[in-house]
Amino acid sequence: MKILVIGSGGRESTLVWKLSQSDKVTEIYCAPGNAGTACYGENIDIAESEFDRLIEFAQEKNIDLTVVGLEQPLVDGIVDRFHNHHLPIFGPTRSAAALEGSKVFAKKLMSEYDVPTAPYEVCNDRDRLEEITSGKAFPYVIKVDGLADGKGALVIQNDNDLAQAIHEIYEDNKFGTAAEQVIVEDFLEGEELSVFALTDGKDYILLSPAQDHKRAFDNDEGPNTGGMGAYAPAPLGTPAVLKKVEEKVIRPVLKGMEERGAPFTGVLYCGLMIHAGEPWVIEFNVRFGDPETQVVIPLIKSDLADLLLSIAKGQLDASGFELYDRHGVCVILASEGYPGTYEKGKIITGIEQLFQSGKARLFLAGTKYDGEHYLTNGGRVMGVTVMSKSLNDAVLSAYQYIRVIEYEGKQYRTDIGFRALNKTIRDH
Ligand code: AMP
Ligand code: GLY
Repeated sequence: MKILVIGSGGRESTLVWKLSQSDKVTEIYCAPGNAGTACYGENIDIAESEFDRLIEFAQEKNIDLTVVGLEQPLVDGIVDRFHNHHLPIFGPTRSAAALEGSKVFAKKLMSEYDVPTAPYEVCNDRDRLEEITSGKAFPYVIKVDGLADGKGALVIQNDNDLAQAIHEIYEDNKFGTAAEQVIVEDFLEGEELSVFALTDGKDYILLSPAQDHKRAFDNDEGPNTGGMGAYAPAPLGTPAVLKKVEEKVIRPVLKGMEERGAPFTGVLYCGLMIHAGEPWVIEFNVRFGDPETQVVIPLIKSDLADLLLSIAKGQLDASGFELYDRHGVCVILASEGYPGTYEKGKIITGIEQLFQSGKARLFLAGTKYDGEHYLTNGGRVMGVTVMSKSLNDAVLSAYQYIRVIEYEGKQYRTDIGFRALNKTIRDH
């Protein structure tokens, strides 16, 4: 089988690594890829947005399966374009990707199918936003409708936050057309959980429930980032909670999408708030989460290429689907200053050593190789993943391994997994 993966993050490094483990995979390419994807496959210098060139490449190389890592090409219709050329591709069509591409679309679908989510209002302009927020009790959340690189949810705690949000949206025009519509929704209390369903539109399988760590610093302080670490399975995702997620979220959403004529295939990422054992949807994404992928994919025992190909062909084959009975943790090493401004080009040492360690998995993200050295090249530089028999062991071991990696400005959280570990301590 010949595979093309699209994207260039730690998520894509993980996907390329796992797919390259399959006996059936003979060639694997990544466009545009990074220094990590180059360790397991061949990078192709084509951007995620260049659909014509990607299609041409897939045709020339007789690619059997294309896997799209990131949301923008999905929302822009890459799957429809590949389908037009009869090329198998894993991911939702443009109309199904609206679940992530338009928060208004997702909210309306949830209202219609009674999926638990925060009460909300839609605003089409500044006057309406000011009207809705005037006198509204804090905290609440303002969200722009369209894609905003994970920065489109603004938690409003006070008048200053509100003034700043209005300024960013309507004066700085920071979100562009993504903010043509804006949602105001109630603040949900609870603990966050990421649940991934691989689906052909009707049938689905769940990966290990994971927990991300969005804030930059320990104790969930500092600004929101793309994610500073993750672990799975998160004990918060008990069998009872997952059953509710299936019954109240996944099944109604798949039914709703089918009834709208936009059956959802690919990975449905449910971003949830769990409160008193009940799931509430914060958002949907239509691709694998990063960094969650860096733990949930290594926890899959089965052949991922077979699984994703079966979905791309419209018939999920979950026979023999198996997860490792292990706990995984991923700690992200970032550049100093991330998620704000940071410098690039710092020499990284210890990568080869860690690759040889055998126990830790290294998923490079914002890293490039200049032929001599590995250099930092982005905000999230790499993820170090360890799987072990207990979360505690995995965490301790991951923090040992990351000491091997050195570069100027190495920034990471020292408390990945703390919620689950605190729970374990409390339970004993
Ligand atoms: P989103 O871009 O929708 O994933 O939101 C980013 C982050 O903002 C989430 O991971 C939550 O931490 C927070 N958030 C978003 N919506 C809500 C909400 N309704 N209540 C509480 N926190 C929220
Ligand atoms: N981990 C958050 C995301 O992938 O959106």
